[in-house]
Amino acid sequence: MPGRFFSQMCGLAVWWAFLIQSPISSASTTYRRHVAADKRQNFLERTLILLDVNTRSPVRLLNDNFLSLQVDPSILKNGWLDFLSSKRLVTLARGLSPAYLRFGGKRTDFLQFHNLKNLAKFRGPGPDYYLKNYEDDIVRSDIALDKQKGCKLASHPDMMLELQREKAAQMQQVLLKEQLSNHYSDVTITARSLDKLYNFADCAGLHLIFGLNALHRNPDNSWNASSALSLLKYSAGKKYNISWELGNEPNSYRTMVARSVNSSRLAQDYIMLKTLLQSVRYYSRSNLYGPNIGRPRKNAILLLDGFMKNGGSVVDAVTWQHFYIDRRVTKVEDFLKTRLLDTLTDQITKVLKIVKMHAPDKRVWLGGVGPAWAGGISNLSDTFAAGLLWLNTLGISAMQGIDVVLRHSFFDYGYSHLVDQQFNPLPGLLAVSAL
Ligand SMILES: *[C@@H]1O[C@H](CO)[C@@H](O)[C@H](O)[C@H]1NC(C)=O
Ligand SMILES: *[C@@H]1O[C@H](CO)[C@@H](O)[C@H](O)[C@H]1NC(C)=O
Ligand SMILES: *[C@@H]1O[C@H](CO)[C@@H](O)[C@H](O)[C@H]1NC(C)=O
Ligand SMILES: *[C@@H]1O[C@H](CO)[C@@H](O)[C@H](O)[C@H]1NC(C)=O
Repeated sequence: MPGRFFSQMCGLAVWWAFLIQSPISSASTTYRRHVAADKRQNFLERTLILLDVNTRSPVRLLNDNFLSLQVDPSILKNGWLDFLSSKRLVTLARGLSPAYLRFGGKRTDFLQFHNLKNLAKFRGPGPDYYLKNYEDDIVRSDIALDKQKGCKLASHPDMMLELQREKAAQMQQVLLKEQLSNHYSDVTITARSLDKLYNFADCAGLHLIFGLNALHRNPDNSWNASSALSLLKYSAGKKYNISWELGNEPNSYRTMVARSVNSSRLAQDYIMLKTLLQSVRYYSRSNLYGPNIGRPRKNAILLLDGFMKNGGSVVDAVTWQHFYIDRRVTKVEDFLKTRLLDTLTDQITKVLKIVKMHAPDKRVWLGGVGPAWAGGISNLSDTFAAGLLWLNTLGISAMQGIDVVLRHSFFDYGYSHLVDQQFNPLPGLLAVSAL
């Protein structure tokens, strides 16, 4: 624990150094026009920055899992889930252990569990020859994995990865269109997919948090738990140690599916899930997190307030999420605006105020955070340009007492993840691997 704290302070020091550096370099842009390059270098060399880091009296002690990860259910659609057994991915994720792995995001509320082994058979043969071969290869690699004991790892042939990248690129267009039109199709998670997801978390030393579909509702608008129950029974049978969530950004259901779930309804649904967990012996003491509201503006704040009042006691930590930038941003400078960095402090203050009012001791999590939403921005949100935002997020959250920060996303298609599709670490991962 003290080790973790100390290294965290080093992270903060780097972060402050960044902050101090950035005005200098922007000021020097004008300066450069008038002076020779070597003088500019002199100027920078002589700018000595002293940092006084006091490690004797901690400002905060951090949760061992403070820096945690999120994986979006869209990896079921674009096919990357099948590659989570990759040795490289597991090794990179293991570098951040101990940590939580939240399986959740926009598609949480469109997930349908089917207790089937093989999705390739469930879907029927692929539309073209290559795709069929590729699916056969996946089935073959699954069979090889089944023969392994304990943590199951695979090395996938280059040809298979090549086909997968093509498939993911095509699927990305479909997923993006869904997100922009706010019109989502269902996503199937089979028992086989759940096995793969759990195997990844388990191999990497991450504790899985699974987001259940909250939009599966009965005619009277109460939550229909039948699909969740079948998933719980399956995973309990496998002794999968999982924590749970219900739904994603419930404040946006009205615009997403023209169906609103108010705070008292949502609280009742969480209470029902808690009861359900208690009824499955293996999960009777498992943790439940929520309600995962989006940016705390007026409606989301009201929802959180009512939820805390009516059902706040059933969650083990209160969660909300934050994405800094939308896709209209095209410049590096946009990522460096202090106004943008300040948006987080503002949100933390709002969320903590509500939680303190109803449950002063309840832990609060930044349950999902990314530089940009809807896959991010090519060549920006996955580069060092977004590193300042990311380190600032960790520094501010630690300082203001946020218990856990879950980064969206560890691995996926798009431009806001920590690992790219060649399984190489991106700046977002390198920036934190020293913490
Ligand atoms: C709940 O959903 C299941 C399908 O998952 C359906 O069979 C069942 O009738 C639903 N229950 C109610 C009360 O609507
Ligand atoms: C919340 O929604 C339910 C239906 O889902 C409704 O019966 C109830 O009256 C609503 N409560 C409030 C306070 O609006
Ligand atoms: C499940 O995981 C949690 C968190 O890592 C741990 O505290 C708990 O002891 C585990 N439970 C079992 C039954 O292994
Ligand atoms: C990313 O941006 C850098 C710097 O602006 C440029 O050199 C590089 O070609 C760009 N890469 C891609 C793939 O667009």
